[in-house]
Amino acid sequence: MRALMSIDSGPGFWLPRQSSTTAPVVDHVFHAVTNISIFFFLLITATLLYFIWKYRARPGHEAQPSPTHNTPLEITWTFIPVVIVLWIFWEGFTVFVDISTPPASAYEVQLTAQKWNWLFTYPTGYTDTDLHVPPGEPIRVVGTAVDVIHSFFVPEFRVKRDMVPGRYEEAWFRADTPGSYQIFCAEYCGKDHSAMKAMVVVHPSKDDYEKWLADASDFIAKLPPERLAEGGEKLYKQRGCKQCHSIDGSAGTGPSFKGLWGHDQPLEGGGVAHVDENYVRQSIVDPHSQIVAGFQPVMPSFQGRLKDREITALIEYIKTLQ
Ligand code: CUA
Repeated sequence: MRALMSIDSGPGFWLPRQSSTTAPVVDHVFHAVTNISIFFFLLITATLLYFIWKYRARPGHEAQPSPTHNTPLEITWTFIPVVIVLWIFWEGFTVFVDISTPPASAYEVQLTAQKWNWLFTYPTGYTDTDLHVPPGEPIRVVGTAVDVIHSFFVPEFRVKRDMVPGRYEEAWFRADTPGSYQIFCAEYCGKDHSAMKAMVVVHPSKDDYEKWLADASDFIAKLPPERLAEGGEKLYKQRGCKQCHSIDGSAGTGPSFKGLWGHDQPLEGGGVAHVDENYVRQSIVDPHSQIVAGFQPVMPSFQGRLKDREITALIEYIKTLQ
């Protein structure tokens, strides 16, 4: 497979750095099509200008009728473009097949896209808002969207794949150079579309990646009870709470967490809820059951996506935000 060629280069003048094995093959087709277009643009424009000058009207010149037919010329200008177009098709098709077919041995990470964050689920069941991967190994990202179409885009890898509600989509890449690479959402998905960003972290070695995964998978379980709020803070940043709930009192898409604990919340449609453990838990697993007055019912349910101890950690964290 050509997509398995190993190349890494610095940032180019026109395009971002090529940091996956997909990047050089995609760029090859892109440059070929662009250069062919530039060549014919210049050739045709120059010929046009030359003919305008050569056949200009001038005194003593009679207009001649054009010849109706020139078989060798017509065969030439049909045959050459057909060969070029078939070549472009072949290059594009083989590269497309390569970049849309993950190798069978690929390491798999699940992706859930939602307004407005990415959530990656690793083989241990650990979830993170960034994508961590070992170097030099094909990675298969299998994902779906919860609400609307989002598009998983890593410019330096030349990988872009729409994540569509109700079906699974897959993207794959192999990155050989350790480092951090930006993930964007490339499909307009609402108010915070432009802030829907994450990173791909390519670890220096497979061992380093395995160690990171083991540590990360266990961080809430390993925290002593008195430090659970720290775990809650980490979850707040990692699981997408941060995108909608501020901790400084400013209103976002959802109510701020500051000063929330012990407070009475007026609800949409009348009534008041007292903010205690059960209120927070209910708001996380079934957010639409109690919409705070003045806010839209846009929060997705986290039922089954946060463990009990993680919900407890978030409650402990909210308690600290007085
Ligand atoms: Cu998600 Cu744009």
